[in-house]
Amino acid sequence: MNTMQITTGRRVAGAGLNIVPFVSVDHMMKLVLAIGIERFLKDLAGYIEEDFRRWDVFDKKPRIGAHSAEGVIELMPTSDGELYGFKYVNGHPKNTRAGRQTVTAFGVLSNLGNGYPMLLSEMTILTALRTAATSALAARHLAREGADCMAIIGNGAQSEFQALAFKALLGIRKLRLFDLDAGATRKCARNLAGEGFEIVSCQSAQEAVLGADIITTVTADKQRATIVTDNMVGAGVHINAVGGDSPGKTELHRDILARADIFVEYTPQTRIEGEIQQLASDHPVTELWQVITGAAVGRRDRQQVTLFDSVGFAIEDFSALRYIRDQLARTGLYQGLDLLADPDDPRDLFGMLVRARNPAQHAAARA
Ligand SMILES: NC(=O)c1ccc[n+]([C@@H]2O[C@H](COP(=O)([O-])OP(=O)(O)OC[C@H]3O[C@@H](n4cnc5c(N)ncnc54)[C@H](O)[C@@H]3O)[C@@H](O)[C@H]2O)c1
Repeated sequence: MNTMQITTGRRVAGAGLNIVPFVSVDHMMKLVLAIGIERFLKDLAGYIEEDFRRWDVFDKKPRIGAHSAEGVIELMPTSDGELYGFKYVNGHPKNTRAGRQTVTAFGVLSNLGNGYPMLLSEMTILTALRTAATSALAARHLAREGADCMAIIGNGAQSEFQALAFKALLGIRKLRLFDLDAGATRKCARNLAGEGFEIVSCQSAQEAVLGADIITTVTADKQRATIVTDNMVGAGVHINAVGGDSPGKTELHRDILARADIFVEYTPQTRIEGEIQQLASDHPVTELWQVITGAAVGRRDRQQVTLFDSVGFAIEDFSALRYIRDQLARTGLYQGLDLLADPDDPRDLFGMLVRARNPAQHAAARA
């Protein structure tokens, strides 16, 4: 079938309502490099902060997960009453052994008023960026003033993004890296060389946390792991716990949770997925938006241990998609995808097939 035939009976000459901008992995990489990764992370954190400030307008629910023994596929929807967004994301810690990534994602932003998608985007890179931007945004409110050294335990796909977000938003210059796989630590150190960090590669998690103001845990293992124990966490430390984000998948010893002031994204989801699944369902937590808006206090003093129990929430992805949409016209870094059927008579969807089957007859009838 040639192009003429398949376009007959469609409103291709009209408004082009069939076309949805698509941001591929290639476009996303070009966009990040064109903007500059630290600028991108700062701008993205700004969009997330803006949306957290208008928390009340959002439709919120815990994400919907499909679990297997190996991992999870999740759908993450939300809406602000004008736009609707969702992300499809997976988490499969054993995937890397077969050459696949632990986390991949894509997402859609739509017009809530007419239901039409406005953007389809890769979100594997975007998830790493938005997770890091959210972590650093939280730490800007929760870590000690003057923090300059961060331990990163788990040096896989997310790790460099975390490092660069903390540099861009908090001025972190010293990194202490540890991973069970020394090859992952070498990869992370190599990728960050020349980015302005002083990097120490460590032999154990205990060694990595020495002297760190901030401890980021970003490991992948589908089990209740104990990456950090209570004795490893000194007074005043901020913990950015990223890798415990699914039922039965945690990284911190329970005793740390009892000692820390805990900050979360959206409590009903974090109770199911976060470190706090280890605690009673009424254990007090503060939502990050409350700290951002000034409705709740973040860090009270320099001795307090603070914990951002990150699991990743739909509003962060919505903000990320909004940010990407706002870059499209300026950069042109997308392609038009023929995603939606667009018959010349909107109610004559079947007729589109009929006319495509016999375009000559259709053309004669119109003449
Ligand atoms: N909170 C969020 O918003 C969010 C977003 C994205 C990813 N994640 C989670 O972050 C984690 C990391 O994701 P990724 O894409 O970097 O995964 P990855 O598989 O690329 O890297 C994980 C690394 O952790 C290391 N590791 C596993 N167990 C360890 C241990 N006990 N001690 C030290 N290192 C250990 C592995 O060797 C690997 O290098 C995953 O659990 C993922 O689900 C959370």
